[in-house]
Amino acid sequence: MTEPAEDPDVASRRLAHESLAEDDPTGWFERLYSAAQDGEAVVPWDRGSAHPLLSDWIETAQPDGTGKRALVVGAGTGWDAERICDLGYTTTAFDISPSAVATAKQLHPDSKVEYRTANLLDPPAEWHHAFDLVVEIYTVQALPIDLQPAATKQVGEQVGPGGTLVVIAVVRSDEVTDEQLEGPPWPLSRAGIDAFGTDDLQLIQLDRVPSPSSPTYAQVRAEFLRD
Ligand SMILES: C[S@@+](CC[C@H](N)C(=O)[O-])C[C@H]1O[C@@H](n2cnc3c(N)ncnc32)[C@H](O)[C@@H]1O
Repeated sequence: MTEPAEDPDVASRRLAHESLAEDDPTGWFERLYSAAQDGEAVVPWDRGSAHPLLSDWIETAQPDGTGKRALVVGAGTGWDAERICDLGYTTTAFDISPSAVATAKQLHPDSKVEYRTANLLDPPAEWHHAFDLVVEIYTVQALPIDLQPAATKQVGEQVGPGGTLVVIAVVRSDEVTDEQLEGPPWPLSRAGIDAFGTDDLQLIQLDRVPSPSSPTYAQVRAEFLRD
């Protein structure tokens, strides 16, 4: 008899816990994407299309990316980056996992997106304040709580003058403490969303979609604008 396949969420958490035990909080992403390339794992968050809250934002805001630059953070297999690129933005999409980047290139062979391996915690200096649009979906919450402030700060720092930041994240209610989270993921607090903002990167819109299965968690889309 063949063994039943392990649930993708359980399998990715197992890889994550092995990585965390080795004091390597991001190493499991490469292990997961690499195993998925070999057909030995499934990437649980890979939707095969752009995130619905990103598509909804595009339909409402109708951004015209002509002559503008966009950066997609923790881009995984590239579905959100492709959607952004279709709007005319010169788009850079990066991920810490070389196998994720390779998979994105394979999945979108005619893409105009520049797919790169890079670490949000140590991004290329030339990206600083360089983008008209930065899109962050579920990357910060995939990092342990102690790394989230530095990651959050780096997301905002890539937004250029007059630029927009769109953050999509799972947010927990205020009763849930950091200590109660058994990540990954480690959903953000409401203060964790506000932390993307600074004096000159202001929150201009916050939309909240409650979880149908839990009153404690909601999907949040936050839009920030730099002066
Ligand atoms: C939960 S997944 C979300 C992927 C994608 N944004 C989406 O919504 O489908 C988190 C992604 O962030 C990437 N990642 C994690 N830490 C990173 C870091 N420090 N720098 C760049 N990418 C990172 C992972 O490899 C993974 O693709």
